[in-house]
Amino acid sequence: GRDITILGLESSCDDTAAAVVRGRGILSSVVADQTALHAAYGGVVPEIAARAHAEKLDICIEQALTEAKVALSDIDAIAVTAGPGLIGGVLSGVMMAKGLSAATGKPLIGVNHLAGHALTPRLTDGIEYPYLILLVSGGHCQFLRVDGPTSFVRLGSTIDDAPGEAFDKTARLLGLPQPGGPSVETSALSGDETRFVFPRPLLDRPGCDLSFSGLKTALLRQRDQLVSNQGGLHAQDISDLCAGFQAAVRDVLVEKSRRALTGCTGITGFAVAGGVAANTQLRAALETLSNQNGLAFVAPPLALCTDNAAMIAFAGAEKFALEGADDLTLTARPRWPL
Ligand code: KG4
Ligand code: ZN
Repeated sequence: GRDITILGLESSCDDTAAAVVRGRGILSSVVADQTALHAAYGGVVPEIAARAHAEKLDICIEQALTEAKVALSDIDAIAVTAGPGLIGGVLSGVMMAKGLSAATGKPLIGVNHLAGHALTPRLTDGIEYPYLILLVSGGHCQFLRVDGPTSFVRLGSTIDDAPGEAFDKTARLLGLPQPGGPSVETSALSGDETRFVFPRPLLDRPGCDLSFSGLKTALLRQRDQLVSNQGGLHAQDISDLCAGFQAAVRDVLVEKSRRALTGCTGITGFAVAGGVAANTQLRAALETLSNQNGLAFVAPPLALCTDNAAMIAFAGAEKFALEGADDLTLTARPRWPL
């Protein structure tokens, strides 16, 4: 039948977002990020995030409808992130979606935020189920086999930090600007990845679980040794440390991806999503691995890898087609494993 038009809302972390999606077409995708509000605190402050979401959601929705050139009455359903995430933000979104649904009589669909990320390669590239995806962001690191819009098998995940978190901490320890991923990547361009020895955590253990906290410890030790030996860090030291750190993250993610692919039969391709998927070296290494396995490689554009509401609208449409709508008893879930 005809593609339905969905309004999606996202407010589970520090981005307030609204989007209108029809089939695989993104009619609009508005993201209001809160980085500036949290900058002075060195991290996301939940109370500030919740208040900002509550204030910004209706503006984002209005803008998304305007840019999509549709009226609220043209929308077929309303999808909203119902978890996991910071409870205040998730609640803001869920209450807004319920209000819109009650006022318009349009169906309400609660979407898992991680499902949104995991289905993005279908939105961007139309990849068929089942496929393997590596989610790598500031908050997540996991391998999922995606069998359907609400059907996932987790093959492994980090037992401590997420890689993005490790990039951010590395930048902080070396005096580079936040977010750490891009600044570490840039500094590493002129670095020698072999000068400093970094561990390759958990490679000695079978399976697809990952660990990144040891890399931070290794970095701290090498940094402090340089400082005590020579009184400070030279630009070349920083670049070499960044290159060594980045190579360790890359090697671990590639080797664990190799294992995850080996354990997955019948998949149509390998996809990657999340902010860390922006890393050029990592992307290239994962693409090579995918090619070696004869699989299509999908890495959505960065704006759709990071938090957005188009992925929520799309995941909502896929879930709606399979399972129908939720009702007004939909609740916000701070924890919601796939
Ligand atoms: O998916 P995302 O925007 O937010 C969530 O975690 O939800 O991911 C942000 C993370 C940050 O930790 C940032 O440092 C990292 O992605 N990142 C990168 C790069 N660009 C962003 N990490 C490595 N290389 C990059 N080029
Ligand atoms: Zn996310």
